[in-house]
Amino acid sequence: MLAFTPLHPIFGVEVSGVDLREPLSDTVFTQIHDAFERHALVILRGQQIDDAQQIVFSRRFGALEITRLGAQGQGSELVILTNIGADGAVVEPSHRQWLNTRANQLWHSDSSFKPVPAHASLLSGRIVPAKGGETEFINLHAVWRALPFELQHAAEGRIAIHDFSHSRAQVDARAVTPEERAVVPPVRQPLVRVSDRGEKSIYIGSHVSGIEGMAQQEAHALLDQLLAFAAQPQFVYTHAWQAHDLLIWDNRCTLHRGRPFEPSLPRYLVRATVAGAGPLIEQAVVADAARDARDTVMQ
Ligand code: OGA
Ligand code: MN
Repeated sequence: MLAFTPLHPIFGVEVSGVDLREPLSDTVFTQIHDAFERHALVILRGQQIDDAQQIVFSRRFGALEITRLGAQGQGSELVILTNIGADGAVVEPSHRQWLNTRANQLWHSDSSFKPVPAHASLLSGRIVPAKGGETEFINLHAVWRALPFELQHAAEGRIAIHDFSHSRAQVDARAVTPEERAVVPPVRQPLVRVSDRGEKSIYIGSHVSGIEGMAQQEAHALLDQLLAFAAQPQFVYTHAWQAHDLLIWDNRCTLHRGRPFEPSLPRYLVRATVAGAGPLIEQAVVADAARDARDTVMQ
C-alpha cells in the first residue's frame, strides 16, 4: 500500500510504501507516475538503490539522456554530482569538480540548454551532509498564476536563448572548454511554456542568456524581475536530504537549485535524466533556410 504525504501547500508529495530494489508492478509505477504528474515533485525516502537499479526505475519514465562531455559520468545514463575525488577524499574548493556543484546552486531547469530539454530528473542522495546542501524547488505553474498581468504580458510570445556556457560563466569564466562548448550551442526556448493540460509557466533559469528581439539590458531586467517573483518563499520547497532519498522532479514546470554546504563534508548524488519528447519550438530557422537554399542550388 502506498501512502502519500504532501510536502508543501502548493506542490510536492512524499510517497512511502515502496522499495525500488524489488520489482515494481505497473499498478504501483502508475501511481508514482500520477503523483509526479500531479505534484511536480515526488520524494521516496530510504531507497538504498545502486546505479543499475536507479537506471531501471528511471527508464520507466522515458528514455534517458546521455551525460554530456565535461560532466562526471559523461557518455553514460547517469550524472555524478560529488565533491569526492578519485582517491576517495573530498577535493579542494578550487578543483574543477566543484564547478558543477556551484553552477547547480543557481536556479535552473535541467538541460534547458538542449534543443530537447529534460522531462524529469531522478536524483539519489547516496552521501549527504548532515547540514546544508539542501535542494530547493519552485513550482512555476503557481508562479504563473500569481504573476502580475504586466509581467505575464511582457513574457508572452517571447523566445529566450538558453546557453550552457552562459550559466557556467557566472561561476567561472574559464569553466567550459571550447570542445564542451561546441557540443552545446545556444538554443531557443519559449519564455512561456504551456503544459499538456494547458497550464502556463515561465521557463527561465541560469542558462538563459537573453531574449530574442530585446536589448540585453531590457532582457536581463525582465528576467531578473521574473526570477525574483518566482523565488518568493511561498513558491519554494526546501528539501533537507537524508541518505537514500530519491527525488523525482518535473523539469517542465519547476526550477531547482542546490544550497551551499561546508566544503570539507562529502556529498555524493547520482542523477538520471529523462529526455523530453521533442524540441519545444523551431530551433535553427536561419540554418534550415540556408541549407534548403544550398540543397536547391545543388539539385
Ligand atoms: C541536479 C541539481 C542540485 C543539488 O541534480 O540536477 O541541480 O542540490 N542538483 O545538488
Ligand atoms: Mn540540476
